[in-house]
Amino acid sequence: MARKVIIDCDPGIDDAVALCLALFDPRLEVLAVTATEGNASADQTTRNVQAVIEQLDPPRYPRLGVASPIEIPPPTFAWKLHGNDGLADIGYRVSELHHQHLSEKVICDVVRSSPDQVTIIALGPLTNLARALRRDPELATMIGQIIMMGGTVDGIGNVTPTAEFNIYYDPESARTVFQSATTKTLVPLDVTRKVTLFLDFVDQLPEETSRAGKFLRDILTYSFRVHRQNFGMEGIQLHDVVAIMLALHPELFETEPMAGDVETQGELTKGATVFDRRPRPEWQQNMEVATLVDVPAVIDGMIRGLRLAGT
Ligand code: BDR
Ligand code: CA
Repeated sequence: MARKVIIDCDPGIDDAVALCLALFDPRLEVLAVTATEGNASADQTTRNVQAVIEQLDPPRYPRLGVASPIEIPPPTFAWKLHGNDGLADIGYRVSELHHQHLSEKVICDVVRSSPDQVTIIALGPLTNLARALRRDPELATMIGQIIMMGGTVDGIGNVTPTAEFNIYYDPESARTVFQSATTKTLVPLDVTRKVTLFLDFVDQLPEETSRAGKFLRDILTYSFRVHRQNFGMEGIQLHDVVAIMLALHPELFETEPMAGDVETQGELTKGATVFDRRPRPEWQQNMEVATLVDVPAVIDGMIRGLRLAGT
């Protein structure tokens, strides 16, 4: 039976590729895709979720959730990686939708309609999840599992020297989720960074004549270009896609139970994830953390999975 999932995301180029992988894989039943602010404004990520789904036209359409802004967004430079509109500045148009609901409401409704069965895969800041847990305090015990891309164990960030983007953008919400009584697996930068893709990856995507092939080539060609121009890098990392791979193929990863928290204040460390890894830890373990990944097998799995979108 397919695993029921909600994908909470902030497209974002890697979010868009992650959606492509998830929406066409028969092992996942994507019940809802909920937008969250992050790589672009709340309005923009909401439009981007719709744009990705309309571009890909998957066999089953999920419910959609609307993002709403966080109170004080930090200054970030996600546009350098994802474009001003979060989706490679291609200017996708979307049809007008009626009866839209906030992401946190959609999360609550979908989890409540299948208690203990829904996995939430969080690919952006954890704002919606924290709001859902506040809105419905019983929800924590009804969520099957949360898989979240974010944080670092080795302490080497990407948006600041110590913080990873998704946690840094809304550290208070990340802390709420980390401390919640939910079953969680974190896929941190330490692991996602190991999966570097080069231009030959694009050649192995579905044919350009298919909807998915055209969409993926357009956004990924942009990604390779800005990585080279802005950072002098020949390879790219699609962090969020690695989190979907963990949901699809847990056997390709090793995880360790850890006790994790989030720094919400520090002048130099705001948004950093902190783990009690002392020889005699005093904090209680609250999540599994991916620590090792079979890189060639994950890349092979990504290619095979994305090809399903082109058939
Ligand atoms: C995360 O930051 C975002 O820019 C990506 O979409 C990914 O979710 C990686 O740090
Ligand atoms: Ca993301």
